[in-house]
Amino acid sequence: MEGPLSRRWMNWLAYAILFSPVVSGTGGIVTQELAELIITIDGPAGSGKSAVAGLLAQRLNVPHLDTGAMYRAVALKALQVGITAERPDQKRLAELAVNLDLTFDWSTRPAKILLDAKDVSNDIRRPEVTAIVYLAADNTLVRAELVRRQREIAAQTHGLVTEGRDQGTLVFPDADFKFYLDADIKERARRRFEELARKGISADFPTLLADMHIRDQQDINRGVGALKLAPGAVVLDTTALTLPEVVDAMVKITGSPRHG
Ligand code: DC
Repeated sequence: MEGPLSRRWMNWLAYAILFSPVVSGTGGIVTQELAELIITIDGPAGSGKSAVAGLLAQRLNVPHLDTGAMYRAVALKALQVGITAERPDQKRLAELAVNLDLTFDWSTRPAKILLDAKDVSNDIRRPEVTAIVYLAADNTLVRAELVRRQREIAAQTHGLVTEGRDQGTLVFPDADFKFYLDADIKERARRRFEELARKGISADFPTLLADMHIRDQQDINRGVGALKLAPGAVVLDTTALTLPEVVDAMVKITGSPRHG
């Protein structure tokens, strides 16, 4: 008796699920994915975004999306095909972004970033990539494509802490919580200096400071996706704060960690 009856029941259920507005998104009802918590963290280079976002995501038990890594992946691909600062082919760069085989492996923290199925998590941090990443970040077609992918990722993960420059302003203007991390430029350059020292790379502090200033200007003055304070964002100045202090302050605002 259960056989045919339960099959009919299952078919009806499958039909109801497939064609319900919640799943198909046709009825103007918010999808289940969109109802999940989205937290944006924006701020300048060296403000501690990545470390903070990683730790916050871990505390809340949701994935952490480093959108800067996506721009870096486009820049790495550009280098691989011979696009350079001297020969910036913007049209080709946009095509590269649209066709980019870029995925994240969320099974690790931080997530691994895969370009053409190869783990490039370290390669995208190389100085020659950093030097031309502005080409990708300034290209409006590249931005449109990466924004589309960022929203797609958010629709697939159940909750997300996403960090970058434009996450709270442009990509997720309706995010549940928005943060803007800032720190004194000298402190940001000092952090960069120490980060390099830890990797055994000796750097010149005045040069690092000057580079930081250039990156700030590039981020602030970008035509689309410029770094600015999103409406409703909570500003946290991390100059004199430790990493756990920043994350604790955020958890107080976002609420208790999720389990499961
Ligand atoms: O955070 P980062 O330094 O890894 O970012 C790399 C570059 O990408 C940097 O030049 C800023 C840019 N970027 C952006 O324009 N928008 C984002 N959402 C994230 C990064």
